[in-house]
Amino acid sequence: MTSHEEGDMMKPAENKICCETVTYMGEAGEVHDGAGSRTEAPAEVSSLIDHLTLIHIEVESNDPGLHSQENQACCSRNVMRKQKHWEKIIAAKKSKRRQEKERRKARQCEDANAGTDRHQHSKKFLKALTKERLLGAKDAGPRLCIDLSMTDHMSKKEMSRLAAQIGRLYGSNKKAAKPFWLNLTGFVENSLLYDECLRMNDGFVHYLVESTEASFLDLFPLETIVYLTPDSDHVLEDIDPTKVYILGGLVDESVQKKVTYQKAKHNGLQTARLPIQEYMVKKVNVKNFHSEILAINQVFDILRTYRETQSWPEALKAGVSPGKGFVLPGEIIPENESSFT
Ligand SMILES: C[S@@+](CC[C@H](N)C(=O)[O-])C[C@H]1O[C@@H](n2cnc3c(N)ncnc32)[C@H](O)[C@@H]1O
Repeated sequence: MTSHEEGDMMKPAENKICCETVTYMGEAGEVHDGAGSRTEAPAEVSSLIDHLTLIHIEVESNDPGLHSQENQACCSRNVMRKQKHWEKIIAAKKSKRRQEKERRKARQCEDANAGTDRHQHSKKFLKALTKERLLGAKDAGPRLCIDLSMTDHMSKKEMSRLAAQIGRLYGSNKKAAKPFWLNLTGFVENSLLYDECLRMNDGFVHYLVESTEASFLDLFPLETIVYLTPDSDHVLEDIDPTKVYILGGLVDESVQKKVTYQKAKHNGLQTARLPIQEYMVKKVNVKNFHSEILAINQVFDILRTYRETQSWPEALKAGVSPGKGFVLPGEIIPENESSFT
């Protein structure tokens, strides 16, 4: 035994715990044999090492051999344990994240379904309400009839514009709080106008209107009919729910004066024009253009607004576009002010 070994032997076993580290100074005969080679640590020491290792305490020995071997074993066991421990944590985290993701997805799916249901419900509900309102007008009146029997007065382009105006008029009636019951009379299926109506208006075949090839003259008692025409001598003062108001299905780019007026007079019908002159004033404009001839959808917007507001100024404002050269008296801008606008 070398002095060095002796010295080592004389040193008491010294366990130092510092930051989970125990330094074990080996005792005589415990770590070295006579030839100075390393022997196995005694059973108590091994068990202590195991014990300390189990409680995550690294054990060091002063014997470099024992130290390195035990340390290596400890380290690899610790590393493995730590690795397993981290793997477990990571796996748990992963599975938690996956579960959260699935839960989120399920919630989103539920919300989307609920939203679609709500949306579909409200869409269906609104459609049903509109239908109810439109059908209600069938009994309650008033009726509004578009006389489509004058297609020979129009070019193909004019017919196409008329078809678009019918679509706008229908759309406006659908939105009306107090709709009219609509009739399309003198309307021939498979005619050019019919095809244009199909082409220009989505869902035209499902329109809630009464459509017939027959003339309005054969459908309604003559005394209930009021033909609306810009050339009438009579002014429309109110809307009577017991009457049927007729609009001439005409788009006359090259104005054909008095076509509807003459037709009405010829059949002994009442006529009326909108009270444009009564409630509006001519606006000075460069072309000095003033026209009381409106498109059927504009006339309809005036009738619809009048029914809702009982106010002609408001109604006329809704349908007479500024291009017609008429404005409400309050809308006239004095010339010296208009130069600043
Ligand atoms: C473009 S206008 C056609 C005008 C055509 N020259 C005519 O003889 O009736 C289309 C239809 O809208 C209605 N309308 C247009 N302006 C009107 C007004 N100021 N008063 C009453 N009805 C009008 C009429 O029923 C008319 O037939």
